[in-house]
Amino acid sequence: MAELDSLVEESQTVQGDGYVEVSYDDAIPNNVDLGSDRQLLRALEKWHPGYLDWWQQMGPDGFQDLDVYLRTAVGVDPAGWAKFGYVKMPEYRWGILLAPKQEGRTISFGKHKGEPVWQEVPAEYRSLLRRLLVVQADTEPASVEQQRYLGKTAPSLYDMRSLFQVNVEEGRHLWAIVYLLVKYFGRDGREEAHALLERRSGHQDNPRILGAFNEATPDWLSFFMFTYFTDRDGKMQLAALAESGFDPLSRTCRFMLTEEAHHMFVGETGVGRTIDATLAAMNKAGITDPYDVDAIRALGVVDLPMLQRKANFHMSVTRDLFGSEISGNAAAAFSAGLKGRYNEAKLEGDDHQLENATYPVIRVLDGKLVEEEVPALRAINSRLLDDYIKDCQGGIDRWNKAIEKAGINFRITQPHKGFNRRIGEFAEHRISPAGEIVSEEAWLASIDQWLPTEDDLIYLNSLMKPCHEAGAYASWIAPPRMGINQQPVDYEYVKIV
Ligand SMILES: [Fe+2]
Ligand SMILES: [Fe+2]
Repeated sequence: MAELDSLVEESQTVQGDGYVEVSYDDAIPNNVDLGSDRQLLRALEKWHPGYLDWWQQMGPDGFQDLDVYLRTAVGVDPAGWAKFGYVKMPEYRWGILLAPKQEGRTISFGKHKGEPVWQEVPAEYRSLLRRLLVVQADTEPASVEQQRYLGKTAPSLYDMRSLFQVNVEEGRHLWAIVYLLVKYFGRDGREEAHALLERRSGHQDNPRILGAFNEATPDWLSFFMFTYFTDRDGKMQLAALAESGFDPLSRTCRFMLTEEAHHMFVGETGVGRTIDATLAAMNKAGITDPYDVDAIRALGVVDLPMLQRKANFHMSVTRDLFGSEISGNAAAAFSAGLKGRYNEAKLEGDDHQLENATYPVIRVLDGKLVEEEVPALRAINSRLLDDYIKDCQGGIDRWNKAIEKAGINFRITQPHKGFNRRIGEFAEHRISPAGEIVSEEAWLASIDQWLPTEDDLIYLNSLMKPCHEAGAYASWIAPPRMGINQQPVDYEYVKIV
């Protein structure tokens, strides 16, 4: 039940007046009446073959002609928006789905607070909005590229299916934002949509826009950490954009959040099952010291100190995605009513304009970490990062509960906000996970305890042996407590022929 509970907890509900018919008769499934806008339809039909080429070149390597048990969105009603069935990935029905319009919705923050939301892009905010869309859109295909080779080493068919589910949905997220670019930004939008298929994760000359999306995802523990920590950045960004005064963006993001919940579920349960396998193996071998690493690795499982180092890495690079803690761009996007705070419309206790408000930001001043009250408008990114860090803790607590229950003296923790940062307030400083500013020498002397080592990655890589038989699971990961869509855990989630 734990998995179901956390899934429910992660779910964002799509609010509105309920079910909107999705047309699957068209080449591009949609609930935006695409057929009535010939120009838009033509532009998207032109983009479609390029997308499919990109999917073949940069989507999952292999497995493209196999039947995969996938969910496809068939509506936007939270009570029943997906159907499950075998699909070959290239035939997946990527579609354009917006959450229902909320009649009478008004802008809930910034200079235009209280005005009706916009159905068209205000001319004065055109370039700012376009940039926000492109940066978000770029992350969607990037993660598919990063995860391209993982199918080959999947620890079970269940996990392989989860990977492919996440991949096709990230592909749909790209569609979702390309729709906005093409519909509302004319020629510029079409050019941006094209460029989104050209950039490549990790490419030297034409990389993806944000750093974390150019890191490799070489193994399955990285994949689970990524879906827990980095997809959660996606959740926070989408949630902030779901508050937007530009209504089509808000509606797009609200539906994307419904899918995003599953990605974080894959991450939380994936790391959780990795921990479960470790605890079971330690218990069976009578090992109680989590730092008895050689003995634990001999059992073919992931030792907890390495798991912590992996988590430290993924948390720190993901925190960089929030941008500079103090940011004029974020202030501009907020004041313009384009991107709000997390849960903006429901926040109580301030005026949602923040002209005179302050927000406490941790900064490095005179070689010390100090909390400084900063104009709240300029601290929007800092606040979203704080909300993100809080949001990360739930799953970590559940992992720790399992460790505690097994009687092992170890806790997974979040490193200090300033640890291993390349962007923002802490970028020029060396800060330990405990939150001390340290010298370069001290940093180098301890780095092997804080971030994954060469040895860690070699060992991790040695565990990545494929397990491609229904019901079989690799040594380092426990089977899930329940299957997908009430299927058994030994279901043939991918038909390997
Ligand atoms: Fe996404
Ligand atoms: Fe995602």
